Amino acid sequence: MSTPHNQAQMGDIAKTVLMPGDPLRAKFLAETYLEDVKQFNTVRNMLGYTGTYQGKQVSIMGSGMGQPSIGIYSHELFTQYGVEAIIRIGSCGSLQKNVHLRDIIIAQGSCTDSNFAHQYELPGTFSAISSYDLLEQAVVKAKEKGLNYHVGNVIASDIFYHADQGSAQKWASMGCLGVEMESYALFATAAHLDKKALTLLTVSDSLVTQEETTAEEREKTFTAMMEIALEIA
Ligand code: ADE
Repeated sequence: MSTPHNQAQMGDIAKTVLMPGDPLRAKFLAETYLEDVKQFNTVRNMLGYTGTYQGKQVSIMGSGMGQPSIGIYSHELFTQYGVEAIIRIGSCGSLQKNVHLRDIIIAQGSCTDSNFAHQYELPGTFSAISSYDLLEQAVVKAKEKGLNYHVGNVIASDIFYHADQGSAQKWASMGCLGVEMESYALFATAAHLDKKALTLLTVSDSLVTQEETTAEEREKTFTAMMEIALEIA
């Protein structure tokens, strides 16, 4: 019982799936952190793995970039494979002066410039939010680990290379902490299907100072974020 985008069979995937954007990062994380790892997907190279972390079964699969991509994979995981929770672990650009490179953002809510929620034919605007119990557990872990973290709204944009100059500033003025490209679709899909979702982000660049992290720095902070995700999975 595979899907057009996933060759896994029912039972191959854990109840909780961690989703980095990059499938090669999924491979690296699975090989680094999990025991008894089995690969369950190679379709379109969107690599997915299941293993155990401290005795718990966990899966890690790439989401790809953008809301259509995470929309497809999360929908299939929730509806075809019995997945109950998806934790996105990604990177973002900072929109605020006090949100520094390598800080962690725990996305409480997500705004968007995407039309993703149009499909639900709602008589208004859908506010996409994370699942509170996952959010709370992530905050507790981030505090315990002494990490620099922020909890709040982010903007999930469909656009990486903006033609206009002002849009990031407008979202910043509404208090959005960072910009990324997937969380709204993930939260909306989870809400629609009565499942759970959370987004954890490492700040990889700043739209305020124009600074960027090196690949090595990103790796280090990613580790802290990954550990939060694995411990709450
Ligand atoms: N992910 C990491 N940095 C980003 C940025 N500046 N815009 C959108 N997504 C991102």
